This record gives sequence, C-alpha cells and structure tokens, in this order.
Amino acid sequence: MSNLPHGVIATYREFLPVTADTPIVSLHEGRTPLIAARQLGKTFSPSISVYFKCEGFNPTGSFKDRGMCLAISKALEKKARAVICASTGNTSASASAYGARVGLPVCVVIPEGQIAMGKLAQAVIHGAKVLQIKGNFDVALSIVKEIAVTQSLEIVNSINPFRIEGQKTAAFEVCDVLGTVPTYHFLPVGNAGNITAYWKGYREYKEAKRISALPKMMGFQAAGAAPIVLGRVVNNPETVASAIRIGNPSSWKTAENVVAESAGTIDMVTDDEILGAYTMLAEQEGIFCEPASAASVAGLLKMAHAGMFQANDTVVCTLTGHGLKDVDRAMAVTSRPTTCVSAEDVAEAIKRWL
Ligand code: F0G
Repeated sequence: MSNLPHGVIATYREFLPVTADTPIVSLHEGRTPLIAARQLGKTFSPSISVYFKCEGFNPTGSFKDRGMCLAISKALEKKARAVICASTGNTSASASAYGARVGLPVCVVIPEGQIAMGKLAQAVIHGAKVLQIKGNFDVALSIVKEIAVTQSLEIVNSINPFRIEGQKTAAFEVCDVLGTVPTYHFLPVGNAGNITAYWKGYREYKEAKRISALPKMMGFQAAGAAPIVLGRVVNNPETVASAIRIGNPSSWKTAENVVAESAGTIDMVTDDEILGAYTMLAEQEGIFCEPASAASVAGLLKMAHAGMFQANDTVVCTLTGHGLKDVDRAMAVTSRPTTCVSAEDVAEAIKRWL
C-alpha cells in the first residue's frame, strides 16, 4: 500500500470540518484525472489549453462521492439513524454506496422513470430504500426536506453544507495538477451545488496562498431546465440531460453570487448542443461521460463560437459523471447500427469496412 493518503478527507483534511472524533468513511474518491483535450480547442484556437476534469472516475462514477464521503462521515459522527436524499440519480447512487460501506440506512426519493438505469441499479444493489414518486426532482426534494425534519433524518443533498465542503476538493486538485489556476472553469448546473463548491475551493486556495488568481466560473443549464438563466422557476423542466432536469435549484442565489464574484456567467445550451458535445467527446477524445456532463463542453463550444477566448487561456471543463450510467442514451444517439454477421463472414465484413 502506498503512503499517500486515500480519499479527499485524508488528502485535504486541513481544509475540511473534521476532527479527531469524526469517523472517516472513504471509498478512495478524488484524485480524478485532468485530461488534456487532443482535438477540442484546436478547432477554434490552437493557443488555448483545454482540460477535462473526469469526475466519472470516482468510485460511484460521479463527483457526488467527494461530498458524500464527508456528509456520511458527519452523519456517523452525529449518530444519525438514517440518511435521506432526493435525486436525479447520482446523489442517490453515491449515498447508497457510502451508506452501505458503514451500515447506515439510506432512503432515496427519485422521480419515477426519470433517472438513468445505471444509477437506479446502483441504489438498488447497495441496498437503499428506493421510493419512486410521480413528480420531478424539485417535488422530491421538497418532500425530503419535510420528512427529514418530521422523522429526524439527515439530508445528504447539497443543501447539507458538508456536501459542498467535500466537493470543493475538486478545485484543489485542478490547481495542484495544473500548478496554477485555469482562466475559465466550465461546468453543468442543476441544483447549483457544484458550482458553489468549486468557487469555495478556489477562494480558499487563494486565501491559503496556494494560487494567486481566481478563474471565471462558467455554468451551463439545459435550455429546457434553465431557471437561473430565465430568472424564474421552471415548473416542468425537460431535457435529455436527466441529471440536471431541475426547475428550482437549491443554490440558486449562491450560484448567482458565484458568477458575479468571478466575472463568469450562467448560460444555457440546447439538447442538440449537449448531445453534440457528448458524442464529440466520445468519438474524438475517447471520453464517455453522461449527457449532463457534456453541458460543460457544449458551453465551451458556444463561448468559443462567440469569440470569447484569447491566446494562452487555460480552460477546465468538469465532466461530472460517467457515460456508463446511461447506456440507453448512448445507444439512442448513435447513427451507427451494429451489424450481425455469421461467423464465417466476419473477415469479409472487415474488408468491406476498411
Ligand atoms: N452533472 C451530473 C452528472 C449530476 O448528477 C448533477 C446533479 C449535475 C451535473 C449538477 O450538479 O446539482 O451541483 O448543480 N445531480 C444531482 C443528483 C441533482 O441528484 O444526482 P449540481
């Protein structure tokens, strides 16, 4: 075993609200790869550097694990009897895994038929109590908030401040690996917890003099679920990016402050733009992320076409979750059908293909 600390709490302990009494749970989350783009960027400006922060490499396949390890550790410290969350899928998958790890009961409330099958499978296999409701994420979250109070359960959605604390470690990693701060940081926005967390991380790193500047924070919502951009609650949010199908984000005001403070923006991208970026990442960069994650790259392309970048800008796009979570979407978007051939025709089929 290496002597390097495992997981984000051990690695960034001095920045996190843990004490000697906090029982630390970790599944070795964090230290995800920051992969340089090979194609993207070159097409619109050869002199900018683009990196993907691949959060799908976390133990349950999304960035949620960074905050969940801390939220579950603190729930244990408090001797909570169970935890609960509403989810578009990834939070429930992460809560279920970390809860299973320490034997803490987990209840997840999700919109029926609206979450990707891989994510539902994760909650099920880890043994969570899964309650599907007829209603969207916003409805699920308001129910969860009520029940958490009446039944004294610990909420592990990003309204739990420990989730934000854990998630801010992704910003630390970006700086540690780049050795500097990016000019721009692009990410998808749903409930707006992650953009809040990154900004907190960057600010704290600057206060600690680990970096000397701050990035501009660039958040992207899906056009059919863009309450912050439109300035009003969206009652029936709709997008192929089911992870960010949210009409009334919890961290709405904070996210607005983040873009104001960082001189960034919150904008929206269409489903076509999201799916275009999604397939482009898979085909040209070798990276399979989930549709919601590709909103960051769709945003980058939108800004590039608007002529935003200057020579030598460094851009990081967070790819929030792994593509294998939603294989149905991958099969639905491809225009290349698989071919069935008899075993003796394989050689001939390859000749024709090349
Ligand atoms: N990308 C993915 C893959 C997500 O699962 C989420 C949120 C986001 C982006 C947006 O992050 O909410 O912090 O702005 N998923 C939550 C969930 C809502 O329940 O898994 P955010």
